[in-house]
Amino acid sequence: MIEMEEVELPPGVEAIRLPEQKAFDGLPFPLVLSPLAGEFQTKDGAYWQEWVVSNRSLLDALLLRFGAIVFRGFNVDTSTHFDLFCKSFGYSPFRYLGGAAVRVKVVGNVLTANESPPDAIIPFHHEMAHVNEYPTILFFYCDVAPEVGGETPLALAHVVYRKMAEKEPELVRRLAAEGLCYVRVAPDGDDPSSPLGRGWQSTFLTQDRTEAEVNARASGYDFEWMPDGSMKTKTRSVPAIRVDRRTGKAMFFNSIHACYIGWQDSRNDRTKAVVFPNGDTMSPDVVNTLEDVMSDVSVAVKWRRGDVILVDNRQVQHARRSFVPPRRILASLYKDDQGQI
Ligand code: FE2
Repeated sequence: MIEMEEVELPPGVEAIRLPEQKAFDGLPFPLVLSPLAGEFQTKDGAYWQEWVVSNRSLLDALLLRFGAIVFRGFNVDTSTHFDLFCKSFGYSPFRYLGGAAVRVKVVGNVLTANESPPDAIIPFHHEMAHVNEYPTILFFYCDVAPEVGGETPLALAHVVYRKMAEKEPELVRRLAAEGLCYVRVAPDGDDPSSPLGRGWQSTFLTQDRTEAEVNARASGYDFEWMPDGSMKTKTRSVPAIRVDRRTGKAMFFNSIHACYIGWQDSRNDRTKAVVFPNGDTMSPDVVNTLEDVMSDVSVAVKWRRGDVILVDNRQVQHARRSFVPPRRILASLYKDDQGQI
């Protein structure tokens, strides 16, 4: 284990330990920063925004090294403060287009994290991993802490890759060689009762079938019209293992877990939602192995009001546990200048 004293941190903060943390490659995950005892604990939100601006390159280096940083005790009291805290990093706001989740704008670049019902589990994913353009930086903020459940578990995708390569070498070889295709039947008009109920009209930004076909092809989808007016879409092959060129680490960067567990409704069969390019489905054994690996390597930090978590979406997958209301977690999505992997 690397002694945290050896890791350079910005002034005024320390790395604290939480019982939920795990360690990988000798580093705690995630990194949890908190103001030093004494004067720093009374500094207000504006102080910490300045602090981010002054220490931006060191914070970027810590994010690259640790994958995710929890900021606890930084007096981020409101959604507006959260917006300003995020903006002090100087990243470019990401426009949430083409994602499947229902989100509501709160203020500035801040959205509700996900509007799906409290009893729904959101399985592990990289945000928008199967869309051409995805946010590289995610911030989450705890406005109202849940009493029971509602954690946002995190997992290092290179650790998932390593474990899966050990346990399912043939699968990982095939994922790297062939990629994956994602299949979804989009209804004729939005269906708010389904977590994947975004209709073909809003998916392809038109009311016109011919134009939807043109847009679908241009976005990398093959499609088929169904008798009930819904549109079955299938992505062309999307890479399922990606190497982060900043670190040389291979990432298990795909939506097998999310699709196989979550993509189920009256139109969609989750077991056929993620397939190899020749149409082969995942074997249930493989998905069970993945489930075991995810629970083994993921970390669920218990939310406290005012917590901010900064996530490198290239390196880290996230999920959401079910909860008993109230709970209000907000999100803010960005792109940094280091690019996608
Ligand atoms: Fe997400």
